[in-house]
Amino acid sequence: MGNRLEGKVAIVTGGGSGIGEAISKKFAKEGAKVVVAGLPEDPVEDVVKEIQEEGGTAIPFNADLSVLANAESCVSLAVKQYGKLDILINNAGTFPETNMLSDYSEEAFDYLLKNNNKTVFAMSKAALPELQKTKGNIVTAGSESGILGIAQNAPYGATKGFNHAFTKGLAAEQAQKGVRCNIVAPGPIDTGWTHKETGPMDSQMEQMVTKGTLMGRRGTPEEVANVYLFLASDEASYVTGAVFPVDGGTLIAKGPAGDQAAESMKQQPDGELKLKHSKDSHTSVRK
Ligand SMILES: NC(=O)c1ccc[n+]([C@@H]2O[C@H](COP(=O)([O-])OP(=O)(O)OC[C@H]3O[C@@H](n4cnc5c(N)ncnc54)[C@H](O)[C@@H]3O)[C@@H](O)[C@H]2O)c1
Repeated sequence: MGNRLEGKVAIVTGGGSGIGEAISKKFAKEGAKVVVAGLPEDPVEDVVKEIQEEGGTAIPFNADLSVLANAESCVSLAVKQYGKLDILINNAGTFPETNMLSDYSEEAFDYLLKNNNKTVFAMSKAALPELQKTKGNIVTAGSESGILGIAQNAPYGATKGFNHAFTKGLAAEQAQKGVRCNIVAPGPIDTGWTHKETGPMDSQMEQMVTKGTLMGRRGTPEEVANVYLFLASDEASYVTGAVFPVDGGTLIAKGPAGDQAAESMKQQPDGELKLKHSKDSHTSVRK
């Protein structure tokens, strides 16, 4: 156990699977009390159980966090249980479909807005009064695709671009209240979304996104959680309004750069977290 978040109380949205599971476990290992929040069908209770078995402190919260009343209940639970809120991690999101815009469904677009943007609006709005009391911070999931755009998923990239601009706006207005707000922008990460068996990518897209990194591989959920940890901790006290890429160099790669990566870079690090639900996303609807 470390102590980089000792005494802090954090909410992690989408904490039951993928990157959120890693953030929840990493934060608990570093001393935070964590509310692991997700949709009713998400394995958040299991993640909580595993955190407790490792000696950490966590409680589950199951609800659709795009509904403001649910977001308010989530924040109330944190405060009732642990007395305050220091950190909000807006990690929840969805990647429902890959299609050219001519075939992209209206249903998937509405689903994206609800889960990728309305969750961020509702949770940030609900949490800010408590974060102002603790001089806390928000870290929100963006994406390299929110900077570059992404073919066959233009609407997804756009929802992430919304999160970037929303967070910069919040950072600008909330500095006077003592609250920092930042973005983590992952590249292709080893969760259910980037495998053809568990998400909407076909094998061509799967190869394209990994070769399009300088490292020729997916990042691990833990490698992303490490950056969330830094930004959420007091070590990042002079960082606000920032977009932090965790993308293996996707933003500067040109063409299939990953083919030329050193073998050492192509190896995913083992990490220290035991992750059970990294590919358990159920909100990726394959078309
Ligand atoms: N996996 C990647 O390659 C990648 C790349 C860039 C950005 N990201 C971002 O990282 C975040 C996590 O992605 P992941 O790959 O771990 O996916 P994931 O599906 O494993 O995790 C997302 C979690 O959010 C939950 N969620 C979605 N909508 C919700 C809602 N309305 N209320 C409560 N919970 C909700 C889901 O049920 C799921 O458990 C997302 O915001 C995603 O946009 C991921």
